[in-house]
Amino acid sequence: MKQLYFFTIAFFLSLAGFAQTDSIEHKVNALVQKMSLDEKVGQLCLKGTSSRSKGLSDELKDQVRKGLVGAILNLTDTALVLQIQKIAVEESPNHIPLLFGRDVIHGYKTIFPIPLGLAASWDTTLIEKTSEIAANESYSRCINWTFAPMVDICRDPRWGRIAESPGEDPYLASIFAKAYINGFQGNNLAEPGRILACAKHFAAYGAAEGGRDYNTVSISQNTLRNIYLKPFKSSVDAGAATFMTSFNDLNGIPASGNTFLLKDVLRTEWKFRGFVVSDWNSVTEMIPHGYCTDEKDAALKAASAGLDMEMTSQAYAHHLKTLIAENKITIAELDEMVKNILRIKFRAGIFENPYFEGREKFALLDPASLALAKSAAIKSFVLLKNEKNILPLTVQKKIAVIGPLANAPKEQLGTWIFDGNKNDSQTPLTALRNMYGTENINYVSGLTYSRDESQAIFDQAYKAAKKSEVVLFFAGEEAILSGEAHSRADIRLPGAQEELIKRLYKAGKPIVLIIMAGRPIVIEHLLPYISAVVMAWHPGTMAGPALADVLSGKENFSGKLPVTWPKTVGQIPIYYNHTNTGRPADSTSFVGIKDIPIEAWQSSLGNTSHYLDAGYTPQYPFGYGLSYTRFTYAKTTIEKNTLTKVDSLIVTTTVTNTGNRIGTETVQLYVQDVTASLVRPVRELKAFAQVELKAGETKTVRFAIAVSELGFYNNEGIYLIEPGTFNLWVSANAADGFKQSFEVK
Ligand code: BGC
Repeated sequence: MKQLYFFTIAFFLSLAGFAQTDSIEHKVNALVQKMSLDEKVGQLCLKGTSSRSKGLSDELKDQVRKGLVGAILNLTDTALVLQIQKIAVEESPNHIPLLFGRDVIHGYKTIFPIPLGLAASWDTTLIEKTSEIAANESYSRCINWTFAPMVDICRDPRWGRIAESPGEDPYLASIFAKAYINGFQGNNLAEPGRILACAKHFAAYGAAEGGRDYNTVSISQNTLRNIYLKPFKSSVDAGAATFMTSFNDLNGIPASGNTFLLKDVLRTEWKFRGFVVSDWNSVTEMIPHGYCTDEKDAALKAASAGLDMEMTSQAYAHHLKTLIAENKITIAELDEMVKNILRIKFRAGIFENPYFEGREKFALLDPASLALAKSAAIKSFVLLKNEKNILPLTVQKKIAVIGPLANAPKEQLGTWIFDGNKNDSQTPLTALRNMYGTENINYVSGLTYSRDESQAIFDQAYKAAKKSEVVLFFAGEEAILSGEAHSRADIRLPGAQEELIKRLYKAGKPIVLIIMAGRPIVIEHLLPYISAVVMAWHPGTMAGPALADVLSGKENFSGKLPVTWPKTVGQIPIYYNHTNTGRPADSTSFVGIKDIPIEAWQSSLGNTSHYLDAGYTPQYPFGYGLSYTRFTYAKTTIEKNTLTKVDSLIVTTTVTNTGNRIGTETVQLYVQDVTASLVRPVRELKAFAQVELKAGETKTVRFAIAVSELGFYNNEGIYLIEPGTFNLWVSANAADGFKQSFEVK
């Protein structure tokens, strides 16, 4: 009876869904029929100025009045937004409201950790909540479209945009993509407080050669589909309203003119019903790419490939009408692009509510939002080293606080914080003074900013260390050193930070290194000087109170790395889900550069895939992170060792907290398809679970994974689930765990 009841409800809800879709399609078609050619082209234009611009030009107002603009970006003065929206709604020929876009990447005013830091929480609920707050705050400031989430997989920490990425793993990134989109869009895009999401940058932008931004990407279809496209597919499934193309070329074809990506994959295979926007000028940038002769050719290639809306450059505005007159683009093609945009405008409810009604109920920097920002920061921190349990700081009375990031309110916010304000930031210095008493904190910055090379205040810093029991060294990168176009070839601590650490070491006090940066930092050579390492990423507005709580032990660490941490830049790209090679490196055959006998015979050393000087393992593996307590994994049980393609793999394990305080562990399940028609990674994350355990407590974790999830795409783009042996690990990170096997028939 109960079942019948639910079935009936579900049936009527789906009917309602269809009815809504039908009525939107009806409205879209009716509207397109009324529109002039100029107006249609106008809908495809995303106009905007610099992210710092404040004004509204008469020219823009005039264009809106004539219906020549579909959306505007970077207009942040709410009075001006409402003014220009009024022009669009009341004066333009068909009264079509505008969309207002902005890069709200990890918070609007309440700034959460950078996305790479949020990824380190492995907490999807948390990510969804942070993007809901970001949406609410943005909506309150008359923004209805964010250029987020960025779901580019990145295996190269030299690339500045790794800070914005979900890390290196396709499964994690796919789950996070969904969480971000749900948080921004909710169940109903038209609900006040919700904004349109934009999955970007489509596609494979994170695979830029050498980690140099905007660079060439040459990868096989198998790598493209198994690694880089997965989070985008998940974004479509989560209902992302929009997609943004990337700046790079993919196997020779720039993404903004790439028919394979935009039509074959996105529309035909994945059935995407939203619209695709270019990146900033990426349509006309196809000219310097060497793919288009001029602006007109760029318009032709972008439109033919299926790019709906052009950001900032004006190839569509200048040439689409001529291209139609010349029969190079058909009216039907143009209508399709316009419909993709109008469909989203209707779904977003902006025809009914163009003036952001209900926005006053969303406060900026609400105490609950700040509390969430603090808890997000705590969950993002990763404890990488903790020698002799120097942390938490429970017995120390006098603490030296040193380093360029200890009191840097702007820098702790990280990249892409157009609307964040450093005056809202709570810094570690202030929080530690509040916690331990100002008289117990010996603060000297030592360096005034991360790139500072001056040693002028080293002596003062040394004296502060000398009179303290422990040194908290807040190191890292200023916010501007990561993010778009901010790649680095050397990813050690910039400036004279290393020299300062070595100098402080001479004071004979344990040093805790807290890194605030947009990427993993090479620290191998510093580790002998340091007792503990905390990766804090750029934690956002609440960095200070969050760090004070974990350093003092009020809160525990639970973050785990969403990227492999290299020992040296020469190991990059380095990632856990690599394939095996015919000569995989191992500890029995590896001989390091220092151990090679003089005049050794050419082939006398283990000929495996490694570096003589950096070995074959990273500094810290993917999934790694310590806690103030310890977790022990019992043997994993695989319910059925032989499975068919329609079965589910059922795995259980028990985890015990064998330490003496409460903690949260992220239990990770990895699989390897041992032999296949294409070589497969040595491990792939297929599931994870977070368990909170009190001291001494044991919990059972059960995973159910459909065998259909264990397949892969081949180079023809065909998804295969091949029979054979699979290895499995349930472990605390990608380099850990006991190997077991099962068979797929
Ligand atoms: C970036 C995008 C961003 C856009 C608008 C571009 O330079 O690549 O990620 O959304 O600017 O600000």
